[in-house]
Amino acid sequence: MTNSAPDSAGVVSSCAENTLLASYNDEKSVEALFDEFREDIAAVIVEPCAANMGVVAPKQGFLQFLRDITKKYGTLLIFDEVITGFRLSLGGAQQYYGVTPDMTTLGKIVGGGMPLAAYGGRRDIMECVSPLGSVYQAGTLSGNPVAVSAGVETIRILEETSDIYSELDKKSAMIETAMKNSGLNVNRIGSILTPFFTDKPVSDYKTALSSDTNRFARYYSYMLEHGIYTAPSQFEAMFVSYAHTDKDIERTCRIIEEFIG
Ligand SMILES: Cc1ncc(COP(=O)(O)O)c(C=O)c1O
Repeated sequence: MTNSAPDSAGVVSSCAENTLLASYNDEKSVEALFDEFREDIAAVIVEPCAANMGVVAPKQGFLQFLRDITKKYGTLLIFDEVITGFRLSLGGAQQYYGVTPDMTTLGKIVGGGMPLAAYGGRRDIMECVSPLGSVYQAGTLSGNPVAVSAGVETIRILEETSDIYSELDKKSAMIETAMKNSGLNVNRIGSILTPFFTDKPVSDYKTALSSDTNRFARYYSYMLEHGIYTAPSQFEAMFVSYAHTDKDIERTCRIIEEFIG
């Protein structure tokens, strides 16, 4: 229980007070916070490839910059790979972009369709957690055997299906091409993509906000009416699955073209 009431979107002010906000893909905004707060910053948490402002890839060198500056100040670098884990590659965004964080959070695919989330990282950090360390962490679904079995089996399938990532890339590229041919502005990394309803290239949250969300809403409804379930917000990602057949993808492309046409 807390005595501070949630102020915005359910975030209590006492939590917000201990959180600093830098802008994704903006090295200067990160530097400015480190100049002011230095070693007092415990951790930098980032989606290495943003998906929760719509898909926005890290600019060349941005993740390495975060790695270098956190090392300099003895701050932990935490990658939120809840979306990108196992999706951009078997080793997630950190393998895809070649930058290793101190800790990683995982969800979604880690459970192979079952409800599961996990975190992990450097041995010396994980040894702080019980039974080796003093930090006790447990929950209803922590290590649930059914969900963990589904996750382990999913990883085995990912390891053994050599064409999985190239197929996902091919199918996603077909959707990207259909969107681009229809005049939409699309960001795609592997099998996550977002059509932005704006003329501006989207490279950060500010440019993502230039999207026409009313037009996005009409697009979303049109897709839904035609049986295509896309993310309901402009600021989310569309996920392509290995289970999608070429026929599914072709139909999706046709419906996108119909909507724009
Ligand atoms: C990138 C990202 N991180 C974290 C979460 C939330 O994860 P959890 O529900 O395990 O707290 C989400 C949404 O589900 C997400 O998209």
